[in-house]
Amino acid sequence: MHKSVLLKDVIDALAIKPDGIYVDATFGRGGHSKEILARLGDSGRLIVFDQDPEAIEYARAHFNDPRVIIVAQNFEYLKENIERIVTPLTGKAEVDGMLFDLGVSSPQLDEAARGFSFLKAGPLDMRMDTDSGKSCAEVLADIDERDLGVIIKNYGEEKFARQIARAIVEVSTPLTTTLELANLIENTIPRRFHDKYKHPATRTFQALRIYVNRELEVLETALNDFADLLCISGRAVFMSFHSLEDRLVKQKIQSLVTVEATARHLPIQTKDEDLPRFKLYIKMQKAEAEELENNPRARSATLRVVERIR
Ligand SMILES: C[S@@+](CC[C@H](N)C(=O)[O-])C[C@H]1O[C@@H](n2cnc3c(N)ncnc32)[C@H](O)[C@@H]1O
Repeated sequence: MHKSVLLKDVIDALAIKPDGIYVDATFGRGGHSKEILARLGDSGRLIVFDQDPEAIEYARAHFNDPRVIIVAQNFEYLKENIERIVTPLTGKAEVDGMLFDLGVSSPQLDEAARGFSFLKAGPLDMRMDTDSGKSCAEVLADIDERDLGVIIKNYGEEKFARQIARAIVEVSTPLTTTLELANLIENTIPRRFHDKYKHPATRTFQALRIYVNRELEVLETALNDFADLLCISGRAVFMSFHSLEDRLVKQKIQSLVTVEATARHLPIQTKDEDLPRFKLYIKMQKAEAEELENNPRARSATLRVVERIR
């Protein structure tokens, strides 16, 4: 079961209006969606996205509600879907709030067959969207050693990236399972560098998962699009689980908020006066000790919230 992270803080931050239109860009098992829906009246709408067919199946089975619109797509298509769904309802492509609870869900990590876990024997897949793209095994089968080293270094911040990349491309039979890859990494990183609290494959698995799912690329697209899609006083809530995605969120938020701060102090109006303006609602928040005890996933969560003010 997926325990939603920072549930109360996220719902409070969205300040849900009963007749508002909200987007849950990362439905998962609908923990946050359920709370949003509970606060909507008959005319409110909740648009949920997930790229994982299993999450969508769950949404269809458990969120069969006339107020819920289910989009079985990557949130990189946020803009076109909001235009398609919301414009006919209100005349403009704007929503009252959005939630991005980034990364993978517990069911994805727990199910060995999805291939996300280095602790569970499964096929080396790692795709959130199992209907498209290349699985991790397919990626590794024909990747160049140098490119692989760069991916593991940049997305995994792994010191032994080059050595791991070489070991992977030099295997005599192609890697097809999670444990084969995990063991190979474990044997490649010198034992004295193994961390007591972290499996040696942690960083490489993170890197490959980010690459296989184009996680940073699709996040950048959504970050570039979301500002125009929020109504004035609407809020966007971002929860990230690793430093690379949090950096992108933070930089985007800073750029949106800084435009406002700079513009306010200029004697003459800038040309971009029609651009949306934002303020920080929650600059940065982590889960409290009590939640960490009950939900280890919350440990790496960083919450950031912005509000459109113009
Ligand atoms: C952390 S879970 C969300 C959990 C959810 N908030 C809940 O309470 O159940 C992330 C979910 O978002 C989906 N997801 C991640 N990146 C996505 C993307 N770019 N487009 C669509 N869905 C995505 C994953 O498939 C996963 O189901």
